[in-house]
Amino acid sequence: MRRWRTLLATVAAAFTAATMGVLVAPTSAVADDVTPYVVGGTRATLGEFPFMVRLSMGCGGALYSSTLVLTAAHCVSRTGANTSITATLGAIDLQSSTRVTRKSNYVYRAPGYTGAGDDWAFIRLASPVTGIATLPIATSTAYDSGTFTIAGWGAASESGAQQRYLLKATVPFVSDTTCNSSAMYGGEVIAAEEICAGYTAGGVDTCQGDSGGPMFRRDAANAWIQVGIVSWGDGCARPNKPGVYTQVSYFSSAIRSAATSLGG
Ligand code: ARG
Repeated sequence: MRRWRTLLATVAAAFTAATMGVLVAPTSAVADDVTPYVVGGTRATLGEFPFMVRLSMGCGGALYSSTLVLTAAHCVSRTGANTSITATLGAIDLQSSTRVTRKSNYVYRAPGYTGAGDDWAFIRLASPVTGIATLPIATSTAYDSGTFTIAGWGAASESGAQQRYLLKATVPFVSDTTCNSSAMYGGEVIAAEEICAGYTAGGVDTCQGDSGGPMFRRDAANAWIQVGIVSWGDGCARPNKPGVYTQVSYFSSAIRSAATSLGG
């Protein structure tokens, strides 16, 4: 069954005190890893992924424009005025004295969202940020394969704590056919709207608190381009349970229209 609804509640609770990082990794890697709380992922460096955003409800996001953060629908409650969210940008350390923060003034949740599919939303910042690079979205399926980068401040293991420092990892594309096979999600994945990524053996994945953050890769010009939005998975980094991401290319027209309607 789909697990992200349960995970979201976990995230919100876990985040109260929280602040940090990401992914989970293979048991085989653990023995060699002297940093016990980062398994499968490693720490990102300042400026490596400038578009990464941490949202105060315990989700990730990507800077789409100077005032808009693209995140997951399941990270927000509804469309409308909302001044309750704080976005943290321009930092890998969420406690950095040089971090940039902004309050939200509006939330736009994908109109079709009812709990499955359509898992995207915008947070509009009360004032624009300057000097922070944005992450362009994929507008065709050209980049919906290959190797993807994932990053976030979510749990470093199932039921683990949120992270203070941004973590990153790479995961390979998993086809809809494979991802929906009986060995994996047995038809639970909405093929047109979702894209899977991860290792059959497990070990590297996004996890609770990474939701809403981007999955991205290099485009033909070697620039980062957003292919996915962290959406759901069965546990984290389990064998045969890849991460499931909103397929950004499928929603690109709707995302662009929404951005225009929100003032860019
Ligand atoms: N829904 C989770 C969240 O709110 C993210 C789940 C991602 N899970 C995974 N195995 N990739 O943070």
